[in-house]
Amino acid sequence: MAPSFLILLFVLCVRDTSADGESCRAYENRTAQIGRTRGLKAATVTEEVLVLELRDCRLDLPLMGFPPHADYVILTNVTFGTDISWPDVLPSEIAKELRIEDSKFEDERILRKLFVNNIGVLSILRSGLSVLPVFNATSECLTRKANFSGNSIGTVTEEAFNVLYARCKFLEDLDLTRNSIRKFPKFAAQNVSKCKLHLENNPLSCTDNDHLTLNQRTRDMLIRTPHCEKDGKLVQFWFHDSPICARCSCYIHSDIYVNCSGRGLDSLPAGLPRETTHLDVSVNQLTSLRIPEESHWREYNAIKHLNASHNPITSIDDYSPHICNLMMLDVSSASLTALPQSLVDELLNTSRCVPLLSVGRLLLGHNPWRCDCDLLPFKRFLGERAREIVDFFTVQCDKRGEEVYTVQEETLCPPPFYELNPWDVAIVTMTILITLMIYKTIRDYYIQKHTGKLPKFFKVRLHAIKSRDFRDKN
Ligand SMILES: *[C@@H]1O[C@H](CO)[C@@H](O)[C@H](O)[C@H]1NC(C)=O
Ligand SMILES: *[C@@H]1O[C@H](CO)[C@@H](O)[C@H](O)[C@H]1NC(C)=O
Ligand SMILES: *[C@@H]1O[C@H](CO)[C@@H](O)[C@H](O)[C@H]1NC(C)=O
Ligand SMILES: *[C@@H]1O[C@H](CO)[C@@H](O)[C@H](O)[C@H]1NC(C)=O
Ligand SMILES: *[C@@H]1O[C@H](CO)[C@@H](O)[C@H](O)[C@H]1NC(C)=O
Ligand SMILES: *[C@@H]1O[C@H](CO)[C@@H](O)[C@H](O)[C@H]1NC(C)=O
Ligand SMILES: *[C@@H]1O[C@H](CO)[C@@H](O)[C@H](O)[C@H]1NC(C)=O
Ligand SMILES: *[C@@H]1O[C@H](CO)[C@@H](O)[C@H](O)[C@H]1NC(C)=O
Repeated sequence: MAPSFLILLFVLCVRDTSADGESCRAYENRTAQIGRTRGLKAATVTEEVLVLELRDCRLDLPLMGFPPHADYVILTNVTFGTDISWPDVLPSEIAKELRIEDSKFEDERILRKLFVNNIGVLSILRSGLSVLPVFNATSECLTRKANFSGNSIGTVTEEAFNVLYARCKFLEDLDLTRNSIRKFPKFAAQNVSKCKLHLENNPLSCTDNDHLTLNQRTRDMLIRTPHCEKDGKLVQFWFHDSPICARCSCYIHSDIYVNCSGRGLDSLPAGLPRETTHLDVSVNQLTSLRIPEESHWREYNAIKHLNASHNPITSIDDYSPHICNLMMLDVSSASLTALPQSLVDELLNTSRCVPLLSVGRLLLGHNPWRCDCDLLPFKRFLGERAREIVDFFTVQCDKRGEEVYTVQEETLCPPPFYELNPWDVAIVTMTILITLMIYKTIRDYYIQKHTGKLPKFFKVRLHAIKSRDFRDKN
């Protein structure tokens, strides 16, 4: 294995009083071996890594003594003159990273000449750019990251955006955070699906940027869609048509969150923002997880995390059409006493409830589980799904305080108990006989009243008497 060491090329600025600023001059004569990772996060530590660092100086012609190649070029607090040529700074035009920080460009247009194809990470941070530069790049561009955070970029032209976005096929991040962008150009979200577009902290107007949110592919690229304030000037444009966001707090953090915790709700809210993924309705007065009306069911399709803890919920069956979409369900500290068999069947159906059962989390503790026969399905569920139930050990019987899982099935639901007691048999027999007698008496009474005929029993007796008389006469 090759020895792992870094060669750090210190490049100093020499005070050169002849110019108005200090000129950046590169020195190669201080070479030092330093530890493996010092100062470098992205360095391939098994290779020699050359770092060119310049700070607090003015970059102007003529440039002297720059090394023919550096892996990392880090320029801090550097003033770029109007006529510098990039090949002087980056002679090979290849670098793992070019980072320009807290610097100044006397003419931003020099960046048009920067050939970025072979710069892995291109960062121009806090350097007062007012427009996103149209860089020189071809379709072979290999740039993975482009970061222009903290400038004053107000204009992003479609051309400038597309140079990076469409030509640099490996682009993973385009960071335009902390700028002054009000309107982002319309663009065709293409196959570079892994490219993430960072736009936080820009005064993006809510009306001009619908294309960022309406198009699913575009939206997927957005990391933390900027928040618009409620003061009317800027509304969180993702949420501007969701009335519930006036009552609850809605925000985007890659996923879409609606926090209705402690808002005095007595049912699940209607009118959720599109594709809400996280809904927190904890600490409210919900008694079930019924979705208000069928017309609002769709809003619940994308919910993956539902926190309904600390509610007087007695049943969660109402949520069953959507329950298998969830990856997290917190119904702890509620008023659940049992889960019905049908719901348990649904939850245990591996062909349906895949996410919840494979990587999901369930919280069911601190409920007054009623440990009787009705709890059997739930107990079996606990047995099969112990891994997903995060608060397994707080799933306890209401009265006994015993863990539901450890309660014996026989004690939960004792088998029917048949031991014949002679007295019970006697009492039951007597009751049946007496009932029959009363019935016979009443029936006979009515028959005699209506037909005048004597009941059969007497008829037989009468007949017997008659035949005896007949015999006696003979
Ligand atoms: C580095 O170069 C500077 C300027 O040429 C020189 O003054 C200095 O002595 C050199 N240092 C070493 C260690 O060679
Ligand atoms: C930036 O560099 C200039 C000289 O070019 C220096 O006067 C100034 O103090 C530096 N600023 C910071 C913050 O280091
Ligand atoms: C872009 O950079 C390449 C390589 O340095 C160069 O050949 C080409 O002329 C440049 N194109 C423009 C428009 O500056
Ligand atoms: C861009 O640079 C800023 C400032 O250094 C940093 O906070 C941010 O994480 C960078 N963005 C990306 C995508 O790396
Ligand atoms: C985008 O992807 C589709 C299907 O995956 C493919 O047919 C198409 O050629 C791709 N377009 C580009 C520009 O790579
Ligand atoms: C949700 O809102 C409640 C009440 O305003 C707050 O206490 C809680 O921290 C919020 N939760 C999250 C995850 O922001
Ligand atoms: C659900 O909300 C409650 C109360 O707001 C909180 O304590 C709990 O940690 C949340 N559950 C999850 C899984 O985040
Ligand atoms: C599981 O769910 C699938 C899809 O909804 C359904 O077709 C299947 O009958 C269910 N299996 C059981 C055992 O309920």
